[in-house]
Amino acid sequence: MATSRGEFSSRIGFIMAAAGSAVGLGNIWGFPTQTASNGGAAFVFVYLILAFCLAYPAFMAELLIGRYGQANAVTSLQKMSRTKGHKQFAFIVGFGGVVCAALILSFYGIIAGWMMSYAIEPVAHFIGAGNSAEWVVSQSLTRNILFTACFMFLTIFVIRRGVEDGIEKWSKRLMPLLIGLLILLIGYVFTLEGASEGLNAYLNPDFSRVLDPGLLISAMGQAFFSLSLGTSVMVIYGSYISKKENLVSLGAQVTLIDVSIAFLAGLLIIPAMYVAQAQGVAIFADDGSLISGSGLVFAVLPALFDTMGSMGLMVGFAFFVLMSVAALTSSISMLEGPVSYVVERHNIERKKATTFIGILIFFMSVGIISQLGVMLDFVATLATEYGQPIIAMLCCVFVGWIWHRNDILKEIQSGNEKVEHSIFWKIWPWYTKFVCPTAIAIVFIHSLR
Ligand code: PHE
Repeated sequence: MATSRGEFSSRIGFIMAAAGSAVGLGNIWGFPTQTASNGGAAFVFVYLILAFCLAYPAFMAELLIGRYGQANAVTSLQKMSRTKGHKQFAFIVGFGGVVCAALILSFYGIIAGWMMSYAIEPVAHFIGAGNSAEWVVSQSLTRNILFTACFMFLTIFVIRRGVEDGIEKWSKRLMPLLIGLLILLIGYVFTLEGASEGLNAYLNPDFSRVLDPGLLISAMGQAFFSLSLGTSVMVIYGSYISKKENLVSLGAQVTLIDVSIAFLAGLLIIPAMYVAQAQGVAIFADDGSLISGSGLVFAVLPALFDTMGSMGLMVGFAFFVLMSVAALTSSISMLEGPVSYVVERHNIERKKATTFIGILIFFMSVGIISQLGVMLDFVATLATEYGQPIIAMLCCVFVGWIWHRNDILKEIQSGNEKVEHSIFWKIWPWYTKFVCPTAIAIVFIHSLR
């Protein structure tokens, strides 16, 4: 075993780090575009319900597993196991999560690299380097590899420094920056023509779509991705929380921040799309649906910034810095999953392990870049639509069916003595045992059809 594991030094440190992991491209890009293409506020409504009723309980399960085990995902799950069969099952679930985190990072790093390249473009324009500006936003093998490498370098840089000096310190710096930038941008977009129409589209629900299975599946996937579930990440972050903290309220606060930032991002992106439309930029695809995904972030929004003249350079820069920062606080958590596993299970020094795994994942990214058209989608689907729900579900099964109820209670009670009489304790154990695994399984099986 490695000597000292590190711990978050304060509750705010944990909140910033866990919210940093949760708030990422999923919130600022994924959530608004899913909302735009799934009936506006109807999606927001379903998302809120699923986030609190399904994702939060599963999130609590992962945090508790980690804090109980005080170790990486595999070791923590094995500490709860009583038979050899349980231990093997623990290995599959824990290691599956670690692999899932690595897979997500391998494609997330590429997209985050694009965000950085789009942040550099306005700077290049500003200093009169027009050719370079064009190069950084054009698809090319070299550009993709270069920017993915830069982003991975930053991720490795933070994780090499460990829990307090790396994850906590940087999350505490970057999260306020992210929230500040987001609010500033929203304030600015609201002053522009077309924003109120966008606000209308965002906040007026089309309730006929609430029970649409497609919408339910997308909302659940979005909620799980957003809370970083099924990737061992929240298990490891849970393991760095002091036993004195009240986990139930910490978990609720992180969920609330995550959901609120997604909501705020919607207030920025959807009005911005309608502002773009008022400027003559096309925001609807040929089939009449709103342009989403990469078309939105890398075509519609830059076209909008172009119409704003020199102000557009600043707004474009701020927007893509916001995206890059959001991506970085998430990517560090993805790297921490595999790193903590290797450090603790194979007794390798943290700095070495971080560099080694970071470079390995970078090579996976290069593999994806070499076949971008097929591989990006393939890896993203494999990790987020299959890996995450399955592993999150198995974590709930572990907590509900393998972990002793008394041990669970003891773990929740530390830092929260009166929990035995709270509604949380009356509902959550039963909920995690039956409702979460069944609901996840139903939605998952449905999505396979
Ligand atoms: N939650 C992050 C986001 O919304 C993504 C993430 C997934 C982070 C899995 C860690 C693990 O972008």
